[in-house]
Amino acid sequence: MGVARTPLIAGNWKMNLDHLQAIAFVQKLAWSLRDAKHSSNEVEVAVFPPFTDLRSVQTLIAADKLELAHGAQDLSAHDSGAYTGEISGAFLSALSCRYVIIGHSERRQYHHEDDALVAKKTVAALRHGVTPVVCVGESAEDLAEHGPSAVPVAQLRVVLDELTTDAEFVVAYEPVWAIGSGQAATPEQAQQVCSALRATIAETLGDDTADRTRILYGGSVKSGNIAGFMNQSDVDGALVGGASLDVDEFSAIARFPKHVGTV
Ligand code: 13P
Repeated sequence: MGVARTPLIAGNWKMNLDHLQAIAFVQKLAWSLRDAKHSSNEVEVAVFPPFTDLRSVQTLIAADKLELAHGAQDLSAHDSGAYTGEISGAFLSALSCRYVIIGHSERRQYHHEDDALVAKKTVAALRHGVTPVVCVGESAEDLAEHGPSAVPVAQLRVVLDELTTDAEFVVAYEPVWAIGSGQAATPEQAQQVCSALRATIAETLGDDTADRTRILYGGSVKSGNIAGFMNQSDVDGALVGGASLDVDEFSAIARFPKHVGTV
């Protein structure tokens, strides 16, 4: 028990910022964090640009030795072949992506991705040495019908059944009703579900895996509410959408230790 988990603040840009805008953004973000003497050992910061930005972002981070990680927003369950429009985990690995988001609710909703596909994509990411950020979360209807943790726990269980105890992965709890709505979950709601998710990891993959696995909260996270989430024992960071597109706001979220304890 008691493994220290490095918090992760992750910016999911969704379909925003082209590769030129990405370069300007990442540069400004790095300067902002450097000016604030931010340490990536204390809080890891990662950006998740669209596929077409990844090469530019990778090159900038490597050339300037920026203390930022980058990841992709999706990948194919397949490694190569006749899958028009798909992106292999091998390509992400070749672009030094540390992470890949899998099973975001927007992909589940608009691209009909089910739990079985999310599990296959998670295994594909691990096969290529890219850490999956597996998203789970309930809709408002699920919440009313099944309560807070039932749906996210069931979604995660399908993925966990395919993993081994040494798997390196991140879980993101994103209630669908909180995404882009301006109405975040309360810190207590987030803690309740994140703790149920950790218990599910412990049950399937053991206490050690559960102890070291980071669980993020996502859904209308801003600099004004991050501290409340980070004060919860089972919340290890945030997956940020809208607020990750504003350099000052995202930088302030990443610097949450300065405002934890002030809520
Ligand atoms: P918002 O922060 O815009 O609510 O989006 C959350 C999200 O979907 C991150 O993946």
